[in-house]
Amino acid sequence: MIHLKTFNKKQLGEFVSSGDFKKYDFLPITAHRAQSHINNPKANDDQTLLILAFDDDNLAGYIGCFPDNFIIDGKIFNYAWLSTLYVSSNFRGKRIAQSLLQKAFEEYHENLALTEFTKEAEGLYNKMGTFEYIQPKVGKRYYFRTDLATIIPSKKPKTEHLQPLLSLGDSVLNSLISVKNCFIQKPDFKFEILDKIDAESTDFISKFYSNRNAEELNWAIENPWVLESKNKEENYLFSSFSESFKYFWIKIYDKKNTLKTCALLFVRDGHLKISYLFSISDLEQFVTFLSYFIVKNKINSLTSYQTEFNKKAESMNIFPNIHQRNMERRYMFHKQLIKNLPDHFDPHFQDGDGDCVMT
Ligand SMILES: CC(C)(COP(=O)(O)OP(=O)(O)OC[C@H]1O[C@@H](n2cnc3c(N)ncnc32)[C@H](O)[C@@H]1OP(=O)(O)O)[C@@H](O)C(=O)NCCC(=O)NCCS
Repeated sequence: MIHLKTFNKKQLGEFVSSGDFKKYDFLPITAHRAQSHINNPKANDDQTLLILAFDDDNLAGYIGCFPDNFIIDGKIFNYAWLSTLYVSSNFRGKRIAQSLLQKAFEEYHENLALTEFTKEAEGLYNKMGTFEYIQPKVGKRYYFRTDLATIIPSKKPKTEHLQPLLSLGDSVLNSLISVKNCFIQKPDFKFEILDKIDAESTDFISKFYSNRNAEELNWAIENPWVLESKNKEENYLFSSFSESFKYFWIKIYDKKNTLKTCALLFVRDGHLKISYLFSISDLEQFVTFLSYFIVKNKINSLTSYQTEFNKKAESMNIFPNIHQRNMERRYMFHKQLIKNLPDHFDPHFQDGDGDCVMT
C-alpha cells in the first residue's frame, strides 16, 4: 500500500537532525541540501519542501519542491519548482511518480514549474498532460580546453583503457592552447572578485528587474547543494559533491571608477556558468574580464543563456573558445500556473533562476 509523507521546514529539520533520513535503502535528500532548503528566504514555514512515497515501510521514491515567487504589480505570487523526482527501480511503473506529482500539485495549488528535466521525466510530464512548454532559452556552450580523457570514455566506455593516452593528448593540446592564449592579459580596468555580494553591489543590482535579490543570491552562495569533496554520495541520485565547486561575485568598473557590471559566476569541475548578470554597459569589459578569468582559472567550458553576453562574445575576436555549440534550456509550467499568471507574462528568467543557481 503506497502512502505519502510531506515535510515542511521544521519537519525536514527534524528528519535530518534525528538521522532518520539515512535509515532507508537510498537517501531522499542530503543533510546540506536540506539545510539549504530550510534557510531558503523564499520558502515559508508551512510550505512543503519534500514528499516521500512509502510502500508499507519501504521508501519507494521522493520529490523535492523548491519554493519561489514572482513579484507581479508589487504583489508576491508564490509558486515552486519541482526538483529531484526519483522512484527506486524496484518500484517503477506503479504510478508512484504520478502520486508524488499529484501531491505536489495539491500542496502548491498547481503553481509549479520545471526545468532541466531528464528525458524519462519529460516523457512522464507530457503523458500526464498537465504541463505546457513555455518559451525556451537559447544559448551556447563554449569549449576552451580539450578534455578528451573525460569525454571520449563517457561516450564510448570501451575506450576507458585509452585514458592515459588521451590525458597525454589533452596535455599536449592544452599546452598549445595556453601559448595561443598568452596574449590575454589581466584587464587594465578595475575589477573585484568577491566570495559574496557586498553593500555596493546590493545597491547596484536593486535597480534591475530580477527574480532574486542580493539576500537571496547570498543565501545560494552560503547554502550550496554541492560541497567540494573527492568522495561521491553513492546513495543519492542528484548533485551532492564535486571535486571543485565555487561561486564568484564579480564587480567591473569603468575607467572613471563607476560600477558598471556585476555577475554571479560558478565553476563546477572546470565548467563555468553565469548565473546572474547585471550590467549598464555594452558588456565589452565583461567579455574581456571573462576571457582573462577563463584562461587564468583553466576553465574547460562555459554554458551561457545570457543572450546579450553571447552576442558580444561572438562579435569580439578575443574570446578564447576553441569550439562552441548551440544549446536550449526548456521550461514547463503547470497549465494552471499559466492560467494564474497574467496573459503573456514574461518571467525574465536568468541562467540561475529555478534551481539552476544551485547545481
Ligand atoms: C521518471 C521516474 C520518476 C518515473 O517513475 P515511475 O514511478 O516509474 O513513474 P509512473 O509509474 O508514475 O509513471 C510512468 C508513466 O510514464 C510513462 N513514461 C515513462 N517514460 C516515458 C517516456 N520516455 N515517454 C512517454 N511516457 C513515458 C510510462 O509509460 C508510465 O505511464 P502509465 O502510468 O500510463 O503506464 C523514474 O523513472 C525515475 O526515478 N527515473 C530516474 C530519475 C529521473 O530521471 N528523475 C527525473 C529528474 S528531472
